[in-house]
Amino acid sequence: MNILFLNGPNLNLLGQRETDVYGSATLAEIEAKVRQRAKKLGVDIEFRQSNLEGQLVGWIQETKGKFDVIVLNAAAYTHTSIALRDAIAAVGVPTIEIHLSNIHAREDFRQKSLIAPVCCGQISGFGQFSYILAVEASINVIEHKKMG
Ligand code: DQA
Repeated sequence: MNILFLNGPNLNLLGQRETDVYGSATLAEIEAKVRQRAKKLGVDIEFRQSNLEGQLVGWIQETKGKFDVIVLNAAAYTHTSIALRDAIAAVGVPTIEIHLSNIHAREDFRQKSLIAPVCCGQISGFGQFSYILAVEASINVIEHKKMG
């Protein structure tokens, strides 16, 4: 099983960016923990970050036949990007939306996710643990698919 973790804009600044909201772990530290858990569970992961919407769209388009699940923290693009939503819908690879913070408990503009309707589900509000939960959720999504 192959899981692609995609991280959107400003997530490269984790660890120094609004630590009261997003915690003090860097993206590299989160990646290390995800790798540890994935290894234990016997799944392969790839972990990427980009500040560019078009790059994220490109990576989503390339997943067909290569990855079983996409885990996407689209960051601010969650709330604005029809392009990301269309890419997820177009490739049909099961996608799990994740966030460190609980977007539903924040500003009004963060409470709307344009990608949620084309994702299998959303994990939001568990800090870096949202990423670990996403590994578990990915396995569940695939097992479910296998069972038909
Ligand atoms: C975020 C929430 C978004 O609203 C915000 O723009 C981010 C991070 C999160 O992980 O909590 O950059 O996706």
